[in-house]
Amino acid sequence: MTAHLFSPLTQRSLTFRNRVVMAPMCQYSAVDGVATDWHLAHLGSRAAGGVGAIIAEASAVLPNGRISPADLGLWDDKHIEPLRRAFAFVASQGCVPGIQLAHAGRKASTLAPWLGGTPVGGAQGGWDDIVAPSALPFAANHATPHELDEAGIATVIEAFAAAARRAHAAGAQLVEVHAAHGYLVHQFLSPLTNRRTDRWGGSFENRTRLAREVTAAVRKAWPDSLPLWVRISATDWVDGGWNEDESVELSRELAKLGCDVVDVSTGGTVPDAKVPVAPGFQVRFAEKIRREAGVPTGAVGLITEPAQADAVVREGRADAVLLGRVLLREPQWAIHAARSLDQPAPIPNQYLRGF
Ligand SMILES: Cc1cc2nc3c(=O)[nH]c(=O)nc-3n(C[C@H](O)[C@H](O)[C@H](O)COP(=O)(O)O)c2cc1C
Repeated sequence: MTAHLFSPLTQRSLTFRNRVVMAPMCQYSAVDGVATDWHLAHLGSRAAGGVGAIIAEASAVLPNGRISPADLGLWDDKHIEPLRRAFAFVASQGCVPGIQLAHAGRKASTLAPWLGGTPVGGAQGGWDDIVAPSALPFAANHATPHELDEAGIATVIEAFAAAARRAHAAGAQLVEVHAAHGYLVHQFLSPLTNRRTDRWGGSFENRTRLAREVTAAVRKAWPDSLPLWVRISATDWVDGGWNEDESVELSRELAKLGCDVVDVSTGGTVPDAKVPVAPGFQVRFAEKIRREAGVPTGAVGLITEPAQADAVVREGRADAVLLGRVLLREPQWAIHAARSLDQPAPIPNQYLRGF
């Protein structure tokens, strides 16, 4: 039988009720990395809205890896309990609770978008300890990062593993390593941001070392019975940057390390890339990686229509579809999509009289 958007997806010991996944989306609503009632309501309403899995926003594995002071974190045990409440509710709705593990590298310490999104230093409520593979600022108004040394890189890898253990303690059933969008792991992948001459830079093998070591460390810290996904940017959209063929090659390596899905986004490395944004514009990369690397993929990016999302799965272009902004507008997108595609709709009992 051909898989479709509302076919279950089995990953290790877990079965997702459908292939609609809420994409990770920063909410800038945590306090010192700790989840608030906003997260319970935000994640909970999409779980009650029928999605098969939710990947909670980029959660910093170290405090200096936050994009903003209000990012979620997983660098301390105090982060576990409030997340546990949100994840327990998500799971109670038949939805797989997941979370993205992240380090922002040179893009750290900025204000929330609605406060301007601008970089801030320690004196303005951010911090000054900004790190990256090389001492190259993201943009003229960003701080010049410190180049990580061997000990600093080891600390980052261990922090990803420790964060995965805390995510599990909080009840997450899916973790995603954030290796996309120009954040720290991607900064090591891309020749635009990695100018190192040691074993962490230069060749493909060296530039991908951090992505591979983080994935291996998280896999070891995370139960074998549960899925691990990795989000990558398939291209920097810049000549001489990270590209789609390297992404295929990296995906093969990630699969060998126990990555269950490569979640395929693009861009984010440099501010001036020309990105040809259009409906479903990144799906072709998910398709290429799935075909050429033989790895399950997730497709994301301006997928907004039920028939469009269903076709991505039916045509074998990806195994799951991640939705971002449309789920901010329409928390019950999955219920409406199931109805429009003549599939059984995942409507909570409490809401049956509304449909
Ligand atoms: C408010 C907001 C926050 C986001 N935060 C994250 C994040 O934490 N991690 C991530 O990988 N992508 C993040 N993204 C990107 C989304 O996951 C998604 O890839 C992107 O929005 C494209 O999908 P869409 O067209 O369905 O929105 C964010 C997007 C938005 C709109």
